Amino acid sequence: MSVQVQTKRVTVPEIRARKGREPVVCLTCYHAHTARLLDSNVDLMLVGDSLGNVMHGLESPIPVTLDMMIVAGKAVMRGSHHALVVVDMPFGTYEESPQIAFRNAVQVMKETGCQAVKLEGGTRIAETVHYLSERGIPVMSHIGLTPQMFNVMGGFKTQGRIEAEWPAIEADAKAVAEAGAFSVVLEGMAEALATKITRQIAIPTIGIGASAECDGQILVMEDMLGLNPNPPKFVRQYANLGPDIEKAVKAYAADVRARAFPGKENVYTMKKTG
Ligand code: KIV
Repeated sequence: MSVQVQTKRVTVPEIRARKGREPVVCLTCYHAHTARLLDSNVDLMLVGDSLGNVMHGLESPIPVTLDMMIVAGKAVMRGSHHALVVVDMPFGTYEESPQIAFRNAVQVMKETGCQAVKLEGGTRIAETVHYLSERGIPVMSHIGLTPQMFNVMGGFKTQGRIEAEWPAIEADAKAVAEAGAFSVVLEGMAEALATKITRQIAIPTIGIGASAECDGQILVMEDMLGLNPNPPKFVRQYANLGPDIEKAVKAYAADVRARAFPGKENVYTMKKTG
């Protein structure tokens, strides 16, 4: 007898078709328990390389490896069955050539089971976006503030603050849309520019610190839940879990110290005799 598990996830064409329609709800996610909580409430979960900062305390995404992304991608896939799961390609795994990008993206897709990958960059990476899309790997692009350019930019800097910068960023958006990306993240970008790009290109724009006019929004989940003591200024917090967790841990510590730890009587230590 063959056993079939039916999972019906949101698909890449479904996200693509949301251009100019119902906004696409996206959040980052790095592990199974939170994936389960997010799954039916979002359209798309991004296993972002922001996990370097959030999970590992790194200053930038530069040290994040393919293995780190794959471990998190597997966890998110195990914890979900509805949302589209996209995994970030980390720094150094796709820039060198379309062929190397393809090989690494195939590894990510085969090992995690995710449905798409995300690549940072516009015009400079358009050939790779085309190469991957043509060969069965859906690509979400990411332009504007691209954290993997941390060292070149000298930190995380909003893009397009002066209008003279706009044409290059608009060209990036057009390049990835024409190369076959199914959506594009606009991060840390002047609001008017993000709105303009959203109206110019045929694929959904997903904003983060960009514009409410984007076709969807994404946030780092830990930022909007109040787990990051220094969230970016644009983040709206929907919960304040940091202080809640501290309060719970303090209560637990007090119980343990007072030998008042509640629980089932010695279930783990008692051996049945006789
Ligand atoms: O790595 C990440 O979490 C991201 C989002 C912030 C878009 O790229």
